[in-house]
Amino acid sequence: MNRDVIIACDFPNRETTLAFLDRFPEGRKPFVKIGMELFYGAGPDIVREIKARGHRIFLDLKLHDIPNTVRKAMAVLSALDVDMVNVHAAGAVAMMKAAVEGLTRADGTRPLLIAVTQLTSTSEDALHNELLIGPSMNETIAKYASNALEAGLDGVVCSPLEAGLVKATCGQNFLTVTPGIRFADAAADDQVRITTPARAKEIGSDYIVVGRPITAAPDPVAAYERCVKEFV
Ligand code: C5P
Repeated sequence: MNRDVIIACDFPNRETTLAFLDRFPEGRKPFVKIGMELFYGAGPDIVREIKARGHRIFLDLKLHDIPNTVRKAMAVLSALDVDMVNVHAAGAVAMMKAAVEGLTRADGTRPLLIAVTQLTSTSEDALHNELLIGPSMNETIAKYASNALEAGLDGVVCSPLEAGLVKATCGQNFLTVTPGIRFADAAADDQVRITTPARAKEIGSDYIVVGRPITAAPDPVAAYERCVKEFV
């Protein structure tokens, strides 16, 4: 079990991101998430720079395209030496298998590959009435997670409240990466279905993704260490 805290570096540019990472003491290298905002703004060099500083990186770009395009794009991301990447499970099994192929390096190693099942911003109502998916949200999540398992992926991104369902469906070794984390004494911001780091541990999350509770804290390093203490 490699339980760990991943900090969502939702910053607009290289300077604010590096200034944030500079606050950590020498040798303390948190696992970080780089999302679309920073990647599209700062380009792949920001990944190389943060990697060179010794951080593990979850590159959260949520690929979703035809299998051939995803295979080739994943080969490019794999060459950046990131540690975790993701796709939308809605791309279906063939696309997810192509992602695994593209990610796998000549020596057989590859970053962890995680699928987004349903975005936590998608309501049950939108699932049925806009996406025209008949089964319930939980059935859909369980099916998309088992498709990801079948395609050879390592796990899914999901709400911590869904982690138990995913583990029950796909087995204890199938990873759950869970955002929507808040300290018991803090504001929820725009997150709806939230849990504390300690509760996420009890439910069985493998990695928690934490943004504003750390990045917007008066003392981000202390907030990070509090997360680690509660969760790891
Ligand atoms: O600031 P906060 O802790 O809410 O940040 C959570 C991070 O996890 C953000 O980068 C957000 O985009 C991401 N995320 C999420 N819910 C998902 C998938 C990703 O909050 N279902």
